[in-house]
Amino acid sequence: MNQNLQLLHEYPFGKLKTLLQNLSIETTEPVISLAIGEPQHAPPEAVLNALVADLGHINQYPSTQGSEALRQSIAAWLTQRYQLSDAVVNPESNVLPVVGTREALFAIAQTVVDVTNTQLNSPPLVIMPSPFYQIYEGAAIMAGAEPLYLPCEAANHYLPDLDAVSDSEWNRCQLVYICNPSNPTGVIPPASFYQRLLELADRFDFVVASDECYSEIYYDEHSPPLGLLEVCQSLGRNDFARCLVFNSLSKRSNLAGMRSGFVAGCDKLIAAFLKYRTYHGSAMPLHHQSASVMAWNDEAHVQVNRQLYREKMDRIVPMLQSSLGVEIPAAGFCLWAKTPIDDELFTQKLFSQRQVRVLPGQYLARMIDGHNPGLHYIRMALVQPIEDCVQAAERIVKLVADL
Ligand SMILES: Cc1ncc(COP(=O)(O)O)c(C=O)c1O
Repeated sequence: MNQNLQLLHEYPFGKLKTLLQNLSIETTEPVISLAIGEPQHAPPEAVLNALVADLGHINQYPSTQGSEALRQSIAAWLTQRYQLSDAVVNPESNVLPVVGTREALFAIAQTVVDVTNTQLNSPPLVIMPSPFYQIYEGAAIMAGAEPLYLPCEAANHYLPDLDAVSDSEWNRCQLVYICNPSNPTGVIPPASFYQRLLELADRFDFVVASDECYSEIYYDEHSPPLGLLEVCQSLGRNDFARCLVFNSLSKRSNLAGMRSGFVAGCDKLIAAFLKYRTYHGSAMPLHHQSASVMAWNDEAHVQVNRQLYREKMDRIVPMLQSSLGVEIPAAGFCLWAKTPIDDELFTQKLFSQRQVRVLPGQYLARMIDGHNPGLHYIRMALVQPIEDCVQAAERIVKLVADL
């Protein structure tokens, strides 16, 4: 058995299940779950129709590289969304469809990490924010690297502190994951953050993987989040050297079950990733590809989706402001809320007394030097219909008042 499996942590939702089981339930109210970030808004009908209409291709093996039509629609979307120069994103060499970003974020570490190239006689490092999307850590571990966590807290505006990493650690680093906009905090790093990261990437020779799967869920319609490819262009790095972005239709288009995303960036990295994936065997079914083309080509449904989240933020955040000190995040659909008591205990009380399910913040982060940056936080994913979210907020306010 691969010994690295022993190093994997239990997934947060498994821990949550254990935390909540066997509690005595003190209310008859129905359960409202804000724990899992699975969008509940309706997917675009035209995309569903395309999915069904193209089922006839089910007898065919799809190619790992995906159809030209899909790669073209992704390249066009990137070009329009990030105001990139024409032809800077080549659909042939800079874009690869993936079966959701989860598997791609995992697989990229298997492609990039080289355990034979160790510095200072130590395993390679994969650097990531904390709290973080758990796949980054599992990917690093299974690739034989050591995860290095950069705490993201109020004091550092919830951004990883790149200057907290020593030169010897940067020397060992082969891959850095950035979550932009961040799950769970909704923070968008400024261009200066990426510029510094790219200087370091050039100096110490590592790859930057920018997970941008919440890029289309933002509060200010006139201020879409910055993306890494856009930063590359502004720096004249039109070859996107060392850079990859990951995005998907799961949040943008409420198509989590379709498992459709892409990776885009440096052609050498894309070529290596394609080679890896050819053996790994993750190719998107052809009818999913046709439906994805339709989704990437349409922005109207995305604007509607964004507006639904905006309405929820406008209703819920003022309700919770004094109880949990939350503010409207720049992006994403999660609230990262400070709890008046331990986050696990708060989660238990909220479930047993009020039947609202949330995720303890400490499950999304790691303890470093005796401190877990997720401690005393909960993550609430506002994925349910607005009335359910309002009801959940009312119950939370009552719970806090009773504490
Ligand atoms: C930060 C982040 N990245 C990536 C993913 C994976 O999304 P998908 O595989 O559906 O594209 C998620 C899903 O919740 C996420 O929260």
